[in-house]
Amino acid sequence: MENRGGKYPQTRQVLLLFVLLGMSQTHAEPGRLSVVEETLSGALVGNLVKDLGLEVVELSSRGAQVVSKDNKLPLLLNINTGDLLLSEPLDREELCGSTEPCLMHFQVLMKNPLQILQVELQVRDINDNSPIFLEKEMVLEIPENSPVGSVFLLESATDLDVGPNAVKNYIISQSSHFHITMRVNPDGRKYPELVLDKALDYEEQPQLSLILTALDGGTPPRSGTALVRVEVIDINDNSPEFEHMFYEVKIPENSILGSLVITASAWDLDSGINGELSYAFSHASEDIQKTFAINKNSGEIRLIGYLDFETTESYSIIIKATDRGGLFGKSTVRIQVMDVNDNSPEIAVSSFISPIPENTPETLVMIFSTQDKDSGENSRMICSILEDLPFVLKSSIENYYHLETEGALDRESRAEYNITITVTDMGTPRLTTQHTITVQVADVNDNAPAFTQTSYTLFVQENNSPALHIGTISATDSDSGSNAHITYSLLPTHDLQLALDSLISINAENGQLFALRALDYEALQAFEFHVGATDQGSPALSSQALVRVLVLDANDNAPFVLYPLQNTSAPYTELLPRAAEPGYLVTKVVAVDRDSGQNAWLSFQLLKATEPGLFSVWAHNGEVRTSRLLSERDAPKHKLLLLVKDNGDPPRSASVTLHVLLVDGFSQPYLPLPEVARDPAQDDDALTLYLVIALASVSSIFLLSVLLFVGVRLCRRARAASLGGCSVPEGHFPGHLVDVSGAGTLSQSYQYEVCLMGGTGTNEFKFLKPIPPNLPPQFPGKELEESPTLHNSFGLFSDHN
Ligand SMILES: *[C@@H]1O[C@H](CO)[C@@H](O)[C@H](O)[C@H]1NC(C)=O
Ligand SMILES: *[C@@H]1O[C@H](CO)[C@@H](O)[C@H](O)[C@H]1NC(C)=O
Repeated sequence: MENRGGKYPQTRQVLLLFVLLGMSQTHAEPGRLSVVEETLSGALVGNLVKDLGLEVVELSSRGAQVVSKDNKLPLLLNINTGDLLLSEPLDREELCGSTEPCLMHFQVLMKNPLQILQVELQVRDINDNSPIFLEKEMVLEIPENSPVGSVFLLESATDLDVGPNAVKNYIISQSSHFHITMRVNPDGRKYPELVLDKALDYEEQPQLSLILTALDGGTPPRSGTALVRVEVIDINDNSPEFEHMFYEVKIPENSILGSLVITASAWDLDSGINGELSYAFSHASEDIQKTFAINKNSGEIRLIGYLDFETTESYSIIIKATDRGGLFGKSTVRIQVMDVNDNSPEIAVSSFISPIPENTPETLVMIFSTQDKDSGENSRMICSILEDLPFVLKSSIENYYHLETEGALDRESRAEYNITITVTDMGTPRLTTQHTITVQVADVNDNAPAFTQTSYTLFVQENNSPALHIGTISATDSDSGSNAHITYSLLPTHDLQLALDSLISINAENGQLFALRALDYEALQAFEFHVGATDQGSPALSSQALVRVLVLDANDNAPFVLYPLQNTSAPYTELLPRAAEPGYLVTKVVAVDRDSGQNAWLSFQLLKATEPGLFSVWAHNGEVRTSRLLSERDAPKHKLLLLVKDNGDPPRSASVTLHVLLVDGFSQPYLPLPEVARDPAQDDDALTLYLVIALASVSSIFLLSVLLFVGVRLCRRARAASLGGCSVPEGHFPGHLVDVSGAGTLSQSYQYEVCLMGGTGTNEFKFLKPIPPNLPPQFPGKELEESPTLHNSFGLFSDHN
């Protein structure tokens, strides 16, 4: 203390003063001193003598000392001078904080007598502290849509200084959006508020930085700053917007599914979820929804259905982009479908006429139109018909055609045409459609029936059963249907003698010919008639053919013996002189056969004789001759039984009984007279006839002999020159046969020409060659030359053996 006092005499004085005051004025007002804070150490706080009225003497004598609580106050007392000095600077803020005034109490203590002086030291404030913001950075989140005038609270700054040195004012850095106002708390402290002057726009300036400055009231003022960061909070105040209000895109109609059509993207100025967009079609028709799909997130429009230019050429789709806040933007996408040649041409037949009549010039067959659902070149078409057919395609209006025949058609040469109409479009690739029609040609009755032969020759065996089918004629008609339906008929014959209707009938349907009754060759050997074939067209056409019917002979007639008469009662028919030489011609049996040909070739044969060996019969001519000389022993009467047989199959025969009477001479009147028949009236005629025949026969034999002789002569002579004199083929004729034809009226029907085979000596043959009588050729029974069969029936010269 001493040192201290010595060192700081002023302090001691002050202390002393306090002590003195205390001692003298106990319970009196304390002494007051004041000092400015932060005064340098050694600075005089006061003088106890001067300020408190203490005596300097007392201070040192009474050992005055300064006592503070806990010795907190760094005061030194100079007891010699009474000066009270600071031993170190005082910090008001440390001593008193915010308490004002800042009063420190200390005592000046003096002994002898003890005296305590209360002294009050006021530490006065100086502006030694700046305002301080506790947070150097303030973040304000302000929605961008906050209205002008909105107030936002800011943190206040603190200043350890008090009074006028405390925070007095706030200022904010320059901003067009905000200004600052001061508010006062109830406790008197000031705080700042930020006031919005101009609306914020997140999109324009999402963040603002302001510097808030706090100023105190010192002189000069001190300041502290803080950063105020204004985060503008985005408000969904922007609608999404598409890049274009209108998009146009073209895609080919055959695009594959999944193809990207377009990406229509939009943006939204807002951020965060306010800028998250989702895309969708707006008011899309079902068709659009089936054909296109939009990606919700990317806005890609893709194809999900097949396009068809022909159905829909374009689509207009409104697309919508919506943000999470429900704001949306729209755009229109126009999708043009481009035609691809994917449609074949089509043919629409409006009229088709089939069958078409033949023989008609230029007939309309079909009217049709073509169309192609594609467009442009893809729908341009060419129409043609394949092959080289007699049809022409004409076009009056575009895509309208009519098909005509080139000229008259002939059904008989071609009844059906397959016409293929080809339509090709000009697209790439070319598409073709074919349509085939079958055109029938209708028949017109332009063909008459045609017989398979111009004439028919039918052969009928005589004695046929009635209604025998003897043959069939047939005709064909190249028309069709009823125009080719043929009916057959017999045409009336010009031959009045031929009762055709009773002989022949015809089946009108199939041309079968029937003999109505049994035919008799001997009565009718051949006949001919015309048959007609008529179709049922309108008008009907017909044609005719000749039918010749040849009746074939059957061996239905037995030989008939003309001589000698078999039904006479004459006992002897032949006389034979006993002086006859061997080979004497006794008689000649004359027989006829009404049949012809082989059926009429007769042969003679001796069946039985009274005296065998006496007579011999020439098989082929019926001559009965003696075989040997007659003697007296020979009986006068002889009976010969001869058989006359034809060459038919089976053969027919007749027997002849000859009575031969041996006479000594022709003078012997032994000729028996034929007996008078029981019926004279009838027998007279018959007898006369037989006599005539017999006489004729005899004279014939004579005549034959003469002719034979002459013939031999002639033939020999002629043969020297030529063999053609007698047109008789040699060597084929069966030697034992003789042909006798005719109906029994030998001399009337035929003349006989006798040819003698020259040079054969005794082997002479007789040939009977019929000389056709000059009869009208229509007489069927006699007209024989035409038929080869009939030649054979006179087959003397044929190959028959
Ligand atoms: C026409 O076509 C039909 C059916 O394909 C066929 O039966 C007929 O024979 C053809 N006609 C001609 C004349 O080619
Ligand atoms: C003998 O027969 C022929 C032919 O049949 C006949 O004409 C004739 O009258 C008959 N004569 C007698 C006598 O019966």
